[in-house]
Amino acid sequence: MKAWQITGTDGLPSLRLAQLADPAPGPGEVLVRIRAVSLNYRDYMNVMGIKGVTGPVPRIPCSDGAGEVVALGEGVTAWKPGDRVVSPFMPSWLDGGFTQAHAAKALGGAVDGLLRELAVLPAASLLALPGCLSFEAAATLPCAAVTAWDALVVRGSLKAGETVLILGSGGVSVFALQIAKLKGARVLATTSSADKAQRLLALGADAVHNYSTDPAWDEWAVAQTGGLGVDHVMEIGGPATLNRSLKATRYGGHIALIGVLTGISGDLQTVQILRKGIRLDGIYVGSRAMFADMLAAFASGGIRPVIDSTFSFDQVPEAFRRIESGRHFGKIVISPV
Ligand SMILES: NC(=O)c1ccc[n+]([C@@H]2O[C@H](COP(=O)([O-])OP(=O)(O)OC[C@H]3O[C@@H](n4cnc5c(N)ncnc54)[C@H](OP(=O)(O)O)[C@@H]3O)[C@@H](O)[C@H]2O)c1
Repeated sequence: MKAWQITGTDGLPSLRLAQLADPAPGPGEVLVRIRAVSLNYRDYMNVMGIKGVTGPVPRIPCSDGAGEVVALGEGVTAWKPGDRVVSPFMPSWLDGGFTQAHAAKALGGAVDGLLRELAVLPAASLLALPGCLSFEAAATLPCAAVTAWDALVVRGSLKAGETVLILGSGGVSVFALQIAKLKGARVLATTSSADKAQRLLALGADAVHNYSTDPAWDEWAVAQTGGLGVDHVMEIGGPATLNRSLKATRYGGHIALIGVLTGISGDLQTVQILRKGIRLDGIYVGSRAMFADMLAAFASGGIRPVIDSTFSFDQVPEAFRRIESGRHFGKIVISPV
């Protein structure tokens, strides 16, 4: 099989296309032909070796893939060849609480990911694709969408009528917008571009603020809520945005701390958290059970992932350049076949 591998720390030049032996499924495992992969900012960080991300080399990057079952290991009865499946970000986290052991199994992190033609995965981890989702659409979901679902629905207990603030128009934020609207929430969005502002409005955002022309998006969000602050923030920025997120949040509100786009450490006004009684939730994707609930909600609610662009398997470096450019809106997909 063909597979892309991170072979060193030189960024894209270290990302190489390799010819590897086809894997074979063991007991309880399934061989899946990967038909689509999507990129997350995490994959870009892994490939570029930036912001403290390290891992074994060579390794295959990318957590998010969907495909079809081609062979079954001993004892597997739940699947048959031809079944269309998607893998969770952490194949061992089926349900219950998050643990270090699950984190260690995150695809494309310490272990090989899915940017390859064939992958062996635990049969118990896989989820069947609803008929309404293509391989490309399904491949956008395991990391960004499940993270948004965990942040808003599971940990956030989002209610109709509440206000959600999303930052930027990347993969996680656009899914958060779609999920929040599905749940009847009001969505305030920020972006750096007028064009993307129009696209956010078209997807259902109730109001949009350009943070590149006016950096005081926290004051804007407070004004939009009659001076109270928002109920939930999807915090994808990290140290350079978190203090503004604290200001934008209402007393007793909730911040889902998700991203590291502006770095991995910094000055934090901790007093705001206690004074306002804010709940700050670290989110690291979610379980297979959350993914299953989300798939059902997407199917019944008619949610279709927003795909920015699709690249062929030979164009993987260009796909990473696209995420690097920041010009994308929604998800970047690679179709291996
Ligand atoms: N914790 C988790 O489980 C988890 C899961 C998935 C992702 N993440 C993290 O979440 C972050 C976003 O991931 P992603 O895959 O959605 O990234 P992405 O698709 O690459 O999104 C990037 C977008 O974020 C916006 N942005 C960048 N800097 C910003 C800033 N300073 N303020 C506001 N918006 C900013 C920009 O949108 P505009 O162009 O519209 O301004 C940019 O296009 C990353 O740090 C990623 O590692 C964490």
